[in-house]
Parts: sequence; C-alpha cells; structure tokens
Amino acid sequence: MSLDPLPHQSPATTDGDFRVKDLSLADWGRSEIELAEREMPGLMALREIHGGAKPLAGARITGSLHMTLQTAVLIETLVELGAQVRWSSCNIFSTQDHAAAAIAMGKTGSPGQPRGVPVFAWKAETLDEYWELLDLSLRFSGGRGPNLIVDDGGDATLMIHLGLKAEADPAMLDQTAESEDETALLRRLKMIRAEDPKRWFRTVTQWYGVSEETTTGVHRLHKMAKEGSLLVPAINVNDSVTKSKFDNLYGCRESLLDGIKRATGVMVAGKIAVVCGFGDVGKGCAQSLRGMGARVIVTEIDPICALQAAMEGYQVAKVEDFLDQGDIFITATGCVDAISARQLSLMKSGAIVCNIGHFDHEIDIAGLKRIPGIRRVNVKPQVDRWVFPDGREIILLAEGRLVNLGCAQGHPSFVMSASFTNQVLAQLALWAERTKASPGVRVLPRRLDEEVARLHLDKLGVRLTTLDARQADYLGLDADGPFKSDSYRY
Ligand SMILES: NC(=O)c1ccc[n+]([C@@H]2O[C@H](COP(=O)([O-])OP(=O)(O)OC[C@H]3O[C@@H](n4cnc5c(N)ncnc54)[C@H](O)[C@@H]3O)[C@@H](O)[C@H]2O)c1
Repeated sequence: MSLDPLPHQSPATTDGDFRVKDLSLADWGRSEIELAEREMPGLMALREIHGGAKPLAGARITGSLHMTLQTAVLIETLVELGAQVRWSSCNIFSTQDHAAAAIAMGKTGSPGQPRGVPVFAWKAETLDEYWELLDLSLRFSGGRGPNLIVDDGGDATLMIHLGLKAEADPAMLDQTAESEDETALLRRLKMIRAEDPKRWFRTVTQWYGVSEETTTGVHRLHKMAKEGSLLVPAINVNDSVTKSKFDNLYGCRESLLDGIKRATGVMVAGKIAVVCGFGDVGKGCAQSLRGMGARVIVTEIDPICALQAAMEGYQVAKVEDFLDQGDIFITATGCVDAISARQLSLMKSGAIVCNIGHFDHEIDIAGLKRIPGIRRVNVKPQVDRWVFPDGREIILLAEGRLVNLGCAQGHPSFVMSASFTNQVLAQLALWAERTKASPGVRVLPRRLDEEVARLHLDKLGVRLTTLDARQADYLGLDADGPFKSDSYRY
C-alpha cells in the first residue's frame, strides 16, 4: 500500500518495513541498549516471568512514544512476551537514531538482512514526516490496524479518532487548523482518506485499548470519555504512583539539567531560574536547579501547589514579576501560553527559555515567530538565538518542545524501567480483557503499582520490612499489601 509522496524529502532510508536515519548506527545502539537493560530490572523481570508463556501472542501493538534506548528495551520486552510491534516517536526531536537503528536491525539481523521491529522514527522530523511515520506505525499487514496502542501524549489515539470521524464527515478535514501541527495532521488524514476511505473503520473494529504514558495524554482521554467519544478502554499509566511520582519527578530532576547543560553549558549556580508549574515535573525541576545553586522562583495557578512551593522555601511569583531578572525560564504546566510571546519579548537579554512539559505551546512559539522584525539565529541543532528588533535576544531550546528529550537523552533508564513496567502490565491487562472491557479510563490496581516498585528494590539494595501477623492485623492489612488505600497521595 503506498501513499502520495510527501512535500518534504525524507532523509531516512526506506529499505524494508522500517524507516530510520542510519542503519549503520545499529551496533552502537545495541551496545547501549544492553547497558540500559542492566538498569531496567522491572522490564527484565517481566521477560523472565512471562517470556515462556507469551501472554501477548497474537496481539498487534503500535507504540507512539519517544524512540529512545529505554523504549528499545520496552519494545523488545513486548516482543519477547509474544506481541507483534510497530513503533514511531511521539516527538519530532526525541528519537535517538542509534536506538532506532538497533531496533530495526534486531539482535540477529545484519545490514543486508535487518530482522528487527518495524520502527519509523528519526531525530528532527518535519511535522509532515511525523504524521506520516505515525501513520506507518499503525499499518499492520493485510490492511489491518493495531489491537493495542502504547501512546504518549495521545497522538495515535487522536489520529484514529479523528480519522474515523472524517470517514463519516470528510468536510471536517477542510476546517481551518489551529496550529501547524494540526494542519499537517489534517493533510495526512486527507491523503489516507483518498487512498482508503474505510481504513479507520477497519482499524477500530479490532482496536481493544490504549495505555497512556503522560499527563497531557490522560487529560485528552478523560475529555473524550466525558464527551462519550472515547472508543476503547484506556489505562492511565501516568497516574500509577510508580510512574508520575518517579518519572515525572525524579526523571525530570535528572534530565532537565542534562538538557540545559548539553545545549548551553551554562553555569546554573547563582542564576535566577523561573519554573512555571509546581506539579510532579515542576517539583523535580525546582529541586535540581536549587541543588545546583540556582535561586528558584515558582509560578502556579493552583493554591495548593503554590503553598507547597512556598513551604519548600521557593519564592512564588508571577512570570511577569521576573521577566527582567530571570536567567533561565522553564515551563512544566501542560497548559498553553504559560509564557506568552509578549513575555518572551520582555525578558532580560540572554535569558534561556525551555519547556519540559508538553508539546510546543507552553511557550508561545507561534506568537514569537510572528513578532515583526524578529530574527532566528541557529547556534546548533535544537538551540536558537531569537534576536528582537532592538538587539536583545533569548536563547530558545528545542524550539519549545521537550528540552530533556530534544537536547539530551531523556530520563535515565532506571526510572523509565518503572514507567515501562507499568506500560507492559497495562498492555497485558488490556489484551487479557479484550472481549469484555468497555470504553473508559482507569488506572492499574495499587497491588500492581506496589509490585512495580518491588521489582526495583533489589537493584538499589533496599531491605524491606515485613509485617508480622500481629502488626498486619493491627493495621488491618494483608502482610503482602496493598499497603495504602486508593486515595493515599504519597
Ligand atoms: N519531559 C518529560 O520527560 C515529561 C515527563 C512527565 C510529564 N511531562 C509533561 O509535563 C507536564 C506536567 O506534568 P505534571 O505531571 O507535572 O503535571 P501536573 O498536573 O502534576 O503539574 C502541572 C502543574 O502546572 C500548574 N499550571 C497549569 N497551568 C499553569 C500556568 N499557566 N502557570 C503556572 N502553573 C500552571 C498546575 O496547577 C499543576 O500544578 C505535562 O504536560 C506532562 O505530560 C513531561
């Protein structure tokens, strides 16, 4: 099945059923995947527990999630559990090309005979390429779609829902889009519709569920469930305690500064850093910046999070209070225009601005580009100086998209092991219940959440205390857990 050529010339190889930047990077990728495996005890334990029984046999799984080394370990775990997998990235800048190459090549493949998993991703995709690659990852043989999706941010889920809607109402593809990204998506859906007007109808008849990785994707799912438009059961992986209270917090605590440092090499100590949003991600960012000696200012809309920040000793202010003083601005809100174009134009010259939240609209990049007379000077990939007509400038990282994945390697493997162990457990649950469950959004049971944590204790030499029968009885608990009620907040 082939589509019209894209308006952009793809830099990727197209041999075989995959598209990666450079297959010759596969050996390097494989060595680094092997290093990552040592730091991902949760996923390796699942391979050991379920590898023999192959509980995902027969499942066609599409992943739309950053194509990194850690994701490579996730992909190969799903395959070892029996699934047939296709993969694309959920962010145009986050692919690690050596990881993608190793996945395409496979452990037993060679450059002449790749034997890996069909992966469609490279670092620095255009928006048109992004949607094309996602589209390719949703195409299994025989014109079939996936049974299950691993989504991060909700784009795969969005493409299917919107595509299906457009099959009934093609005029909606002519609507004016709100962003360049949406324009590219609508363009892609139009091509697909012209090629195969029943593609999404066929896809949804065998689509049994989605597990969603991140906060923003979960918001989208809840919105669809509330409107009654959600087509499948969804598992909110983000709100497993062993995901959001670890990946979002401890992951960002390490990968934010990794991104800023690789991009700019700036000395953080002594600087004024403004962190917009004090949720899980913001808490991790603020802590790492303070740890390195920055003076941290937090902005918040929620009085509880604002009070938490104040009690942690951070000054809580409005962005506009610190525009002329802030040296580093970071958005971690999941919201649009946390920093507006006008605010960007009023910042102290030389301020570093980046986003670790979601997408490219936490910072109003579209508005920045529209400022009359503004000039973009590229320093290196994912680092730009934006020079205002009066000569002042800001340094923008990763074009306002995730700085830790655009300018660095994302979170360390160990914390991703916890997130991805939840992902595999969610996929197992969705597959096991595929004929029974109805659309809706839920989290994994606390018992499994505790199990994910348990699988990571040995690696850190943790010795866990065990309740004896009298203590368990006193607390009204089973000695094996769960240890907290569902409403406990950690
Ligand atoms: N880069 C990464 O590796 C990574 C990892 C996990 C999550 N995320 C993304 O980061 C974002 C935040 O995730 P989270 O788990 O911290 O969410 P969260 O809901 O816990 O925190 C977001 C916080 O931002 C605040 N906020 C919202 N709008 C604001 C505004 N305009 N100004 C100031 N504060 C505002 C909210 O009150 C909230 O406290 C999400 O988009 C999520 O998808 C990124």
